Amino acid sequence: MSTPPTEPQIEGALDHTLRPSAWNDYVGQEDIKENLRVLITAAKERSHAPEHTLLYGPPGLGKTTLAHLVAKELGVSMRATAGPVIERVGDLAAVLTNIEPNGILFIDEIHRLHKTVEEILYPAMEAGKLDIIIGKGPSARTIELALPPFTLIGATTRIGLISAPLRSRFSGGVFQLNFYTEKEIQKILARSAKILGIEADEDALAEIAKRSRKTPRTANYLLKRSRDVAQLDRTKLTLAAAEKALGMIGIDEAGLTPSDRKILEALIEKFGGGPVGVKTLAAASSEEEETIEDVYEPYLMQEGFLERTPRGRVVTQKARQHIGGGSQTTTLGFSKT
Ligand SMILES: Nc1ncnc2c1ncn2[C@@H]1O[C@H](COP(=O)(O)OP(=O)(O)OP(=O)(O)O)[C@@H](O)[C@H]1O
Ligand SMILES: [Mg+2]
Repeated sequence: MSTPPTEPQIEGALDHTLRPSAWNDYVGQEDIKENLRVLITAAKERSHAPEHTLLYGPPGLGKTTLAHLVAKELGVSMRATAGPVIERVGDLAAVLTNIEPNGILFIDEIHRLHKTVEEILYPAMEAGKLDIIIGKGPSARTIELALPPFTLIGATTRIGLISAPLRSRFSGGVFQLNFYTEKEIQKILARSAKILGIEADEDALAEIAKRSRKTPRTANYLLKRSRDVAQLDRTKLTLAAAEKALGMIGIDEAGLTPSDRKILEALIEKFGGGPVGVKTLAAASSEEEETIEDVYEPYLMQEGFLERTPRGRVVTQKARQHIGGGSQTTTLGFSKT
């Protein structure tokens, strides 16, 4: 008897199903795609592995997906790992010596690499060698291990935490992924609906796109939740079903989540709108400092609700109006119409 999959496993499987496996299905980020295309084509012509590349930007914008597409375009396999997983130098050696020649090594959350591991990575990236120290004390000696040629693709949500020496070794380029336009998100949603067999009205998809934090992963998540509501209401995915689902999750008309509003409310009500440091803000809104910086702030800043000044975070007039004025908030914190 098999056990039913857990919720994250289901979501994970769907994430995989919806992940574009062809460049044409990867919507937007045109500048990055163009740069990568040149990098890949030129490297292919020289029968070389492309140079190391770093992708950064908020979660769910398509960094991992891009890395898979690069590997596919090169016709090589990709080994994926993450910064915190590589605990010891030996772990890195094991990964690096297992890459196929000219293959891709993808390191997610590369800002969380251990310092000692990071330093071993430098000569690997630059000169294709690993210096491994064997033994301890006076009898310790270094052996040099030659590595097969490879391309490192790093991904991070925190470019500010990447050390200068590491950053400078990404000679293929350091690329920032930006939030998508509503139009692009709608295109992604139309494709996802098709894959999932959801019959959806155009205005329903437009509404989900509008409230998706301009983030593909969030958009796909909202599409699935809206589909659930439509299914239980025995309708196709209509605008009304989408609005109901969005309301249940607590996404307001501006696309802000309860957490976004909690942060803005804390800033306005407890600190007169700021400026306030992120540590204090985290404590006041019961959110992790890292989550505020990685997830909430980038979107709030891009949409003009929040500004970062040298003295701390400050809310804008738009945020004051949104929180205090027009939109009534319920106990859950989402606006009613
Ligand atoms: N440009 C795109 N076009 C279509 N779908 C996309 C695009 N970018 C991302 N997606 C969808 O969003 C999902 C999340 O993308 P992905 O896992 O690549 O994000 P990420 O930037 O690596 O996030 P994290 O920082 O959390 O690792 C993908 O599975 C895919 O379904
Ligand atoms: Mg990822």
